[in-house]
Amino acid sequence: MPIPELDGVSVLVTGGAGFIGGHLVEELIRCGAKVKVLDDLSTGLASNLESVLDQIEFIEGDLRDRSDCAKACDGVDTIFHQAALGSVPRSVKDPALSLAVNVGGTSNLFTAARDHGARRIVFASSSSVYGDTPTLPKREGEEGDVLSPYAMSKLMCEQLAEIFQRCYQMEIIGLRYFNVFGPRQRPDGPYAAVIPRFFAAYHSGTAPTIFGDGEQSRDFTYVGDAVRANLLAAGAPAEACGRSYNVAGGKRVSLNQLWKLIRDLVGGGPEPEYGDPRPGDVRHSLADLEAVGAGLGFEPEVGIDQGLAMTSEGYRQ
Ligand code: NAD
Ligand code: UD1
Repeated sequence: MPIPELDGVSVLVTGGAGFIGGHLVEELIRCGAKVKVLDDLSTGLASNLESVLDQIEFIEGDLRDRSDCAKACDGVDTIFHQAALGSVPRSVKDPALSLAVNVGGTSNLFTAARDHGARRIVFASSSSVYGDTPTLPKREGEEGDVLSPYAMSKLMCEQLAEIFQRCYQMEIIGLRYFNVFGPRQRPDGPYAAVIPRFFAAYHSGTAPTIFGDGEQSRDFTYVGDAVRANLLAAGAPAEACGRSYNVAGGKRVSLNQLWKLIRDLVGGGPEPEYGDPRPGDVRHSLADLEAVGAGLGFEPEVGIDQGLAMTSEGYRQ
């Protein structure tokens, strides 16, 4: 399936100042789209949009505010909904906040999109919806019990999408991202993801902490591949809508292997320290990519080695 023609098309990116959103906005500008961004800068950074700031309309606003959502959805054809509070541990600490932003915010946004007649919504779901199922690879339709409020919030977003599509004949596609990484992902704060944390540990010369025995594994996805999946979803035929698809690199790497890959890449680094397993963590994660290949024409292009090299270069700069 080809990347859709976006020249002159009005689009909204919620969470556009975030890690994935920022890369997506840059790509949409390269494609000639007219881009609005809605972001409250709670975890995102204006610097992620530095290269395109004079070419976009930036609305500093909150998904929880219905008037901000209405302003953002006015006149847009396609909505890429990336805004959310990420992090499993953040949601374990403050479930009400993660649910208010991720579920309440998504409901406000979908309602505004309906009222303003947006043609298509593509939204960020998560591999965490697979929960405790031990089955590998994770296949759409084979979800288990969710293990954290964050995972539950994403599952509820998927259910909201199904209801909005059914009640209002909207075209909505969810993308279940599997551990996305790449340049500009924030390494700071207690809720940072593992790859930026490991690079930060290397740069500060301190040992990274691995929670548990390090044999848990993840299917790491390069951010450029996640961006391409969004564009493909925006242009996919209407029959592909009304469901969620896995978006992943398609390979499983343990955390022990990950630290070794980073050490090999940068040429050194200390031995890791091991801590207690993290509450709410799933053990293994690996995506089945058959449905997303058939439905959206997506397959990953960047492997973990190449992705880590580009990420390392980004942090070095
Ligand atoms: P991020 O934190 O960098 O980006 C999220 C953006 O949303 C930020 O810019 C933040 O300021 C904004 N935001 C948060 N709350 C908001 C609110 N109430 N109103 C308006 N804006 C708000 O995270 P990311 O890694 O770029 O993730 C993007 C999306 O992908 C999220 O929905 C996340 O749950 C999902 N996701 C990410 C990963 C991953 O590995 N990074 C994996 C699965 C799913
Ligand atoms: C999970 C979801 C992902 C989601 C993200 C939101 C799964 C499989 N993945 O990511 O889809 O979008 O939450 O934030 O549910 N770790 C360490 N040391 C560290 C940091 C992390 O050992 O310093 C470990 C964690 O315990 C975990 C793994 O690394 O086992 C990955 O953690 P993280 O990067 O936070 O992402 P997930 O929680 O897997």
